[in-house]
Amino acid sequence: MYIDVLLGLQWGDEGKGKVVDYIADQYDVVARFQGGPNAGHTIRINENKYVLHTIPSGVFRENILNLIGSGVVIDPITFEKELQNLDGEGISYRDRLLISKKAHLILPTHRLLDAASEAAKGKEKIGSTLKGIGPTYMDKTGRNGLRVGDIYAADFMQKYNALKEKHYGLLKQFPEVAFDLAGEEEKWFSSLDSLKSLKSVNGEYYINDALTNRKKVLAEGAQGSMLDIDYGTYPYVTSSNTISAGVCSGLGVAPSKVNEVMGIAKAYCTRVGSGPFPSEQDNETGERMRTIGREFGATTGRPRRCGWIDIPQLLYTIMLNGVTQVIITKLDVLNEFDTISVGTEYAYDGMVTTELPFDLCSTNIEVQYALYEGWLQDLSGITSFHALPPKAKSYLQSLEQQLKVRISMISTGPERSELIVK
Ligand code: GDP
Ligand code: IMO
Ligand code: MG
Repeated sequence: MYIDVLLGLQWGDEGKGKVVDYIADQYDVVARFQGGPNAGHTIRINENKYVLHTIPSGVFRENILNLIGSGVVIDPITFEKELQNLDGEGISYRDRLLISKKAHLILPTHRLLDAASEAAKGKEKIGSTLKGIGPTYMDKTGRNGLRVGDIYAADFMQKYNALKEKHYGLLKQFPEVAFDLAGEEEKWFSSLDSLKSLKSVNGEYYINDALTNRKKVLAEGAQGSMLDIDYGTYPYVTSSNTISAGVCSGLGVAPSKVNEVMGIAKAYCTRVGSGPFPSEQDNETGERMRTIGREFGATTGRPRRCGWIDIPQLLYTIMLNGVTQVIITKLDVLNEFDTISVGTEYAYDGMVTTELPFDLCSTNIEVQYALYEGWLQDLSGITSFHALPPKAKSYLQSLEQQLKVRISMISTGPERSELIVK
């Protein structure tokens, strides 16, 4: 049949996990196509909170298959912890969780390299989650990486040691950082058993067979489009293609198989880590958003930087992804704001435009804002678009007009049930 995509339009943490969990029951397979344990996808079902890093967010829906695709990088240690958490909650996943053999492995020395490289950058650091993402993708593109399928090969230890030795060589150029390599290696090797206890498959055949057999597939993005390696705020990005193009390479499907592209954005905007953020409110307003929206990283616990929703930024990522519907989350966080701002245009280099410059990092941008009256009303219990306060409706309608894409869902709280389907 076809594959629908749900991905982040901002700098991550848009609420992908919540919405994927909500819509997963309309699909047969949910597949992650890129990223790794840098992701933290939160799902709340009846007050129980779950945070997933590598496992697709369809896992809480019975009968739905979940595939960790070839474009993902897996740390067996984090992965084992995720499985243990699911076991602890009594969630059965064994027959429904599959791993692509082509997914690359994050070694302990990848995490060590990540930490050493960030330490060496000092003030210029990316603000990486230190999960070893950059070094693992570097080994993938440098054609040195280890993949899940390699675990079963006779020469696996040889390959592992060769890669570790290469990492030792690289580490010499960085200052030393504290890291219990022996301890982490021990955990790593023991956690391989958990990985091996699940079914690994040729992900590209698995997905294409599913499509041929008229199954519906949902591809779940990680990070956000502004963190894309090619089109994000380079070098303050992650190391994978987070945009819809990454679905094809990460799962091994043709572009013609992609149907709907659901782009998700907060009713405001956040970013965690370093790098440009034109509509950032590094002030009391941002502080209020952080407190009300509980804007602290699901993976690292770091406070997230907060600011207003940014139309030029969203038009850019809608264009990159071919977004066919927009989902707005965390509308409730703005309930108590008298006025709400929307970044409508950028002024830089003597012009006013909605086009992003070559380099957001080095361009001095002044964001022009339009002001909206707040609705000053609790949204809990509202289940239809029509029942929203008129001022909330006109805020959303105005966003829709400016983005030129329909808003199909609105999230008004962290619970699975707090979602309005328009
Ligand atoms: P993801 O990485 O895109 O899956 O998003 P995260 O899980 O990192 O961050 C989103 C946070 O907002 C989580 O704590 C969610 O529980 C929470 N959340 C999601 N949707 C809503 C919403 O509509 N309102 C509120 N208040 N919280 C939400
Ligand atoms: P989810 O899927 C928000 C950010 C990091 C850092 C940069 C590079 O939960 O939306 P990396 O560890 O990839 O080398 O970090 O990217 N980052 C995220 N920010 N949400 C995420 O994932 C992120 N994954 C990475 O903070 O700035
Ligand atoms: Mg997150």
